[in-house]
Amino acid sequence: MPGSEISIIVPTYNEARNIEPLVGRLAAALPGLDWEVLFVDDNSPDGTADVVRAVSRRDDRVRLVLRFADRGLAKASIQGLLSANGEVLCVMDGDGQHDPAVIESLIEPLRKAEADVVSAARRLSVGLDASVLAPVRTRLSLIGNRLSNLVLGRDVADPLTGFFAIRRDAFLSVAPSLGDPGFKLLLDILSSDHKLRHREVPFDFGARMHGESKLDSFVAWQFATYLLSRLTNGIVPASLISFLIVGGSGVFVHLAVLYLALAATGSFALSQGLAALAAVTSNFLLNNRLTFRDRRLKGIRLASGYLKFLLVSSVGVLANVSFASFTYENIGHIAFVAALAGIALDTLWKFVISSRIVWK
Ligand code: GDD
Ligand code: MN
Repeated sequence: MPGSEISIIVPTYNEARNIEPLVGRLAAALPGLDWEVLFVDDNSPDGTADVVRAVSRRDDRVRLVLRFADRGLAKASIQGLLSANGEVLCVMDGDGQHDPAVIESLIEPLRKAEADVVSAARRLSVGLDASVLAPVRTRLSLIGNRLSNLVLGRDVADPLTGFFAIRRDAFLSVAPSLGDPGFKLLLDILSSDHKLRHREVPFDFGARMHGESKLDSFVAWQFATYLLSRLTNGIVPASLISFLIVGGSGVFVHLAVLYLALAATGSFALSQGLAALAAVTSNFLLNNRLTFRDRRLKGIRLASGYLKFLLVSSVGVLANVSFASFTYENIGHIAFVAALAGIALDTLWKFVISSRIVWK
């Protein structure tokens, strides 16, 4: 068969020192097989791409896919999966935690056409060595897996694993329905097509060779909003869910400032105005970090974005304050209820307009 039979896709971010060892381990694990490896790098500041380029110059099984101005494990993996030549595609981490020796057992059922997707499941329930995965992280992974199964409607031991193989035709058929699942590509693939035949192979999750994990609190946030979005069958997009949760946090900022200002000034309208401004500012900063992270504003654009957001919000704030004041005066001077009514009106308006104007 001309071209490579198996394409290994490795998303990388700051993995410069892990590239050569991994290529060596792949070569040792796949003797006699026709394979290529695509490193999909998000322009890592540590020069990972340069290392890949150097290796690929002397080994034509090694390819570099370079992405610019965007970050994301799943997005990078999708780019690699789309660019690969193999009939069978395998995604794995570039830090040594996924043993290349497992690949053969992943691709075997695919080549025999007995399955469409085969994933390598970490043995989480037996408790992993703390040098591999901190106990907290193991527990979080287990909870994440349980929640994922709720969304999936299938019983999968480790839907959050980053190590799996898929037939190219199967991948191409689900690719158009994939969202931005952050770290969780397998979960998104399995939940996008319930007819995919899936199998799992247990494996020993290893320790990282060099560098550190990129799973941070933002990745966890992305996962939580993704799951909630999936629970609505994707009808409510993850971005709106994120915006609503941020808005919810704004309620606390709002109420805290409201009561402080109310105590200080005694004027409800003035206090409600101040509280709304504080909440708008905190919402803007959080949305910039969380909801619209991929379009994040920085420096001068952060300032102009804030002005635009204020402008968009001022219409909302006007409606907010007048509606809340009206409610306050007429429905028994209950500041809490009045404030909530104002905020609800405000939030909807802001999501629709700001996603078009501020973070376009
Ligand atoms: N291109 C690109 N862009 N690659 C990335 C990015 C990114 O933004 N973030 C992480 N990676 C690459 C890393 O360089 C590494 O090769 C691989 O993706 C896994 O990232 P780690 O940072 O090592 O993840 P982990 O070990 O904490 O998480 C593991 O467990 C998760 C389940 O809890 C991985 O196996 C994940 O794939 C898995 O979802
Ligand atoms: Mn890792």
